[in-house]
Amino acid sequence: MAEEKANSYILSSPRQDAEAYSANFGAHRVGISPQEMAEYYSQWARQGTYDEDLSPERYRGPTLAADVIAQTYLHNRHSVKILDVAAGTGRLGTELHKQGFRCLDGLDPAEGMLAIARKKNIYRHLFCEFMPTENINIPKGDYDVIAVAGGMGEGHIPCKALREMVRITKSGHVVIVMREEYLDHVAEYKDRLEPIMLELEDQGLWQLLQRNVVPNYSFDNNGVIFLFKVC
Ligand SMILES: C[S@@+](CC[C@H](N)C(=O)[O-])C[C@H]1O[C@@H](n2cnc3c(N)ncnc32)[C@H](O)[C@@H]1O
Repeated sequence: MAEEKANSYILSSPRQDAEAYSANFGAHRVGISPQEMAEYYSQWARQGTYDEDLSPERYRGPTLAADVIAQTYLHNRHSVKILDVAAGTGRLGTELHKQGFRCLDGLDPAEGMLAIARKKNIYRHLFCEFMPTENINIPKGDYDVIAVAGGMGEGHIPCKALREMVRITKSGHVVIVMREEYLDHVAEYKDRLEPIMLELEDQGLWQLLQRNVVPNYSFDNNGVIFLFKVC
């Protein structure tokens, strides 16, 4: 189904939009492994076309996530400690920095993407790692905010990462911005991601504050913004 939709978009769109859609689709092809996915993003970044292909006109993940965080933290933004999970080339960090946030760390398994993020000089630490992490141990309650923009998808962040996000957040917030259709189209998430979110709420670990569906999140696809308050 995702392939048919991609083909139809690619055939009916101007060349540059079609190429950008196709590049993005490659990172989400059905059955892609986490290692293949990370290598794909690294290559995409090294070609120098990621930021242009997913320009703000085509992909609004970073601005949507930054706006939710800015609306949640009106004061003392310089001291709010944020982990940008799936930081990529640092687009969310850039938006947060513009809004006055200064304690920014990033985590992403694609070194090619992080190489671009590093040059932006806005992150204190950049970890080349998958979430949940295996090679570094982030202390419990280390961050005020965990933010994910565009990090969910086929072969991307698995459901089990949610519990780790809660663990490393100290009574702050978790923000996840993702393409809405992945809730159904990605086998890892279908009938699992939202039930696990609910399970964590039933266990008193976090509370859902927002679940907003927004149009034109990525190309012409809806996005969904989840905002949780960690207890
Ligand atoms: C579409 S890009 C989004 C990058 C950036 N947040 C942005 O909005 O431009 C998706 C990113 O998710 C990262 N990613 C995928 N699975 C991940 C995981 N398990 N843990 C951390 N990052 C992951 C990829 O390496 C890639 O850089």
